[in-house]
Amino acid sequence: MRRSGVMAQIEQVIGRVNEVEALAEQGCTSEVSRVVADDGVYLLKSASEQRYREWLRIEAERLRRNEQADWIPLPRFYGFFEDGDGSHLLMSFEKGVSLTAALKEASHEEKKTLIRSFGRFLHRFHERHPAESLKRSDDWLAHQLVRAEGYLERGEADGDRALLESLIRNKPVPVPQTMIHGDCTSDNVLVWDGEVYLFIDAAGMTVGDPRYDESLAVRRFQNDPELLGAFYEEYTRHRVSEAEYRYFYDGLYAFF
Ligand SMILES: Nc1ncnc2c1ncn2[C@@H]1O[C@H](COP(=O)(O)OP(=O)(O)OP(=O)(O)O)[C@@H](O)[C@H]1O
Ligand SMILES: [Mg+2]
Repeated sequence: MRRSGVMAQIEQVIGRVNEVEALAEQGCTSEVSRVVADDGVYLLKSASEQRYREWLRIEAERLRRNEQADWIPLPRFYGFFEDGDGSHLLMSFEKGVSLTAALKEASHEEKKTLIRSFGRFLHRFHERHPAESLKRSDDWLAHQLVRAEGYLERGEADGDRALLESLIRNKPVPVPQTMIHGDCTSDNVLVWDGEVYLFIDAAGMTVGDPRYDESLAVRRFQNDPELLGAFYEEYTRHRVSEAEYRYFYDGLYAFF
């Protein structure tokens, strides 16, 4: 990030910045830094590629609206800044580590506790009445399939034409739509004191098919019956079938 224009705008919001340090744990689509200002610590998420700048703009909008009305567990919004080189989202710096990182350090028993907590966190979120600002009039899955087509045409997807056509032909029987995170992997929830307590990376948050979140959530421990069982001790509202898991994780997710 250039210290010039964008940094001046950031300092207008949070006061003098004393330190900007890249985090050890980075995502794939952006650069994340810890920003230390006179009055507090913030997280700056920056993207330079066009596609990821667009995602970041949508994430910023989500966090901004959440401040006003929704109160979904997400970081606080402080600002969104753009210049010729990139886009930058400034949010609260939240305690803890991603669930992925927490699981790496954990014993088998601790893993079960963490995963139970993830199940409980997601169950509560899916059971909540959808926030007004997330409601949509179109069909989420149909919309995702159109987006997938766009990524495929631009050569930006892992999935191929045959897979997309089979996803269009073999849509699962619909279930009631709920609020979803939209990229609900263990990378995108934070853990503190042994509990999953916050979503991050929320550009895909909307009202949609909860089986998409569920499939991405269980991906890491899909093949461990004990850990999978721990998740479903708390996530009791639904259990994805083999076919649903394949549709959402092996199928749809390959385009995003
Ligand atoms: N508000 C926050 N407070 C503290 N740490 C954060 C915060 N937001 C993100 N992080 C850290 O930054 C890392 C990357 O964040 P994030 O998932 O938003 O980036 P990303 O580039 O979109 O990731 P990807 O595209 O790979 O999913 C997280 O794993 C987490 O360690
Ligand atoms: Mg992420």
